[in-house]
Amino acid sequence: MKYSGYAFIYTIGCQMNVYDSEKLASILNSCGFEKTGDMDKADVVVCNTCSIRHKAEEKAYSFLGRFAGIKKKKPHLITVMAGCVAQQDGEKAFERVPHLDIVLGTRAFSRFSRHIRSIQSGQPRIVDIEDSSMIYESPPDSVCFEENKVSSFVTIMQGCENFCTYCVVPYVRGKERSRKPENIVEEITFLAGSRIKEVTLLGQNVNSYGKKEGEISFPKLLKKINDIERIHRIRFATSHPKDLSLDLMHAIRDLKKVCNHLHLPVQSGADSVLKKMNRGYTRQQYLEKIIQLKNLCPDIALSTDIIVGFPSETIEDFKNTMDLIREVEFDSIFAFAYSNRSSAPAAKFSDQINEKEKLDRLNLLLQLQETCTEKKNKVQIGKVLEILVEGKSLKKHDGFEQFGKDMEQMTGRSESNKIVHFPSNRVNIGDMVRIRIENAYPHSLWGHPEFD
Ligand code: SAH
Ligand code: SF4
Ligand code: F3S
Repeated sequence: MKYSGYAFIYTIGCQMNVYDSEKLASILNSCGFEKTGDMDKADVVVCNTCSIRHKAEEKAYSFLGRFAGIKKKKPHLITVMAGCVAQQDGEKAFERVPHLDIVLGTRAFSRFSRHIRSIQSGQPRIVDIEDSSMIYESPPDSVCFEENKVSSFVTIMQGCENFCTYCVVPYVRGKERSRKPENIVEEITFLAGSRIKEVTLLGQNVNSYGKKEGEISFPKLLKKINDIERIHRIRFATSHPKDLSLDLMHAIRDLKKVCNHLHLPVQSGADSVLKKMNRGYTRQQYLEKIIQLKNLCPDIALSTDIIVGFPSETIEDFKNTMDLIREVEFDSIFAFAYSNRSSAPAAKFSDQINEKEKLDRLNLLLQLQETCTEKKNKVQIGKVLEILVEGKSLKKHDGFEQFGKDMEQMTGRSESNKIVHFPSNRVNIGDMVRIRIENAYPHSLWGHPEFD
């Protein structure tokens, strides 16, 4: 295809936004813009934004703010705010970024190319935050591939109707909608034919997949994807603890390609906080599911999300969260200080915790998890893990020189999502190799291929 310019896309936020950015890139491609990693070359700049926490929102505005001067020198430059902040702020975005051309909400992708053409033909400012119950379906072969990519995200559902009281997602992503299984299977079959070995299925609550549409259940969808040739691994996120079914646990146990790893956000270990968060389960119910899961799938890797400093969280509540972390022994956690979002109900709750206290609690939690992660990583020493090779390691491991000049240090991930480095001059990106683990660090493992 002959291109008429370049497009630079900056993505903030969750994996779903990474997937959406690929879709935006393919739309821009069809409008004649080639994707570039060089911002200075760009004729279109898109910031795909996130409003989950205040900091993410500020990052978006500060990135887009930079283009005020650049646009004066380069008047044809088109600037776009896409994603969750765009959906949330709409017209208001121009107050902070007057030079913006397009504000593109989370459900406006199907109209993006039209908006680009309108701006090119001289129309000023466009805001499109209209609701659309349809999921944007691009042709499966329109993905813009990065070289050497072996793993890909695939959104299977959008929106959320759980209304956790701290969370903006239901307001910025709308009602829950699931893609048709045949569209998902078609997309993954195409990816499998394009060197992709691993897919991560995305949704805010994958356990509810297909329920509203009367489609097949999530475990049944997993079975269909498990049957796709040349896909080696299937991951998924996020599962909501209240809807984690026995069927899904069985699917993790029985389907060969489904990784033995579950991301199950608990958010808090205190019942009173869980209740105020509207999470729909108690500490005890969460722990019972974990026990059931560990019984069915021994060695399962577990990860979670935690929010500290939710309004009215007492020291006792926080201690309950710390105890839960000790009890479950997660492989990894994503922990956040509660961030007040004006569109979410918790913004109006009394007893907001001050910022310093929130950060103190966050640090204590992260320290505790670091020892836990290291301990979990050490257990891997002596085991042989199957690794999907992702590329060359950027940073060489201490003492790597001893392996000789002809050796590369390669990197990949285990089924449990742990990063593993190893020396080899015989493997290619996308290979599955067996690595004997010899050393464990807080953030990675180190070992040798079994064949060397
Ligand atoms: N649907 C997923 C998570 C979506 S958002 C789930 O239900 O778990 C990812 C994580 O961001 C959440 O799990 C939560 O831990 C965190 N988060 C959401 N809103 C937040 C807020 N207002 N302040 C701090 N962290 C928040
Ligand atoms: Fe937000 Fe709760 Fe929905 Fe997750 S389940 S996206 S935390 S409202
Ligand atoms: Fe952020 Fe929107 Fe994802 S708010 S976490 S980019 S759904």
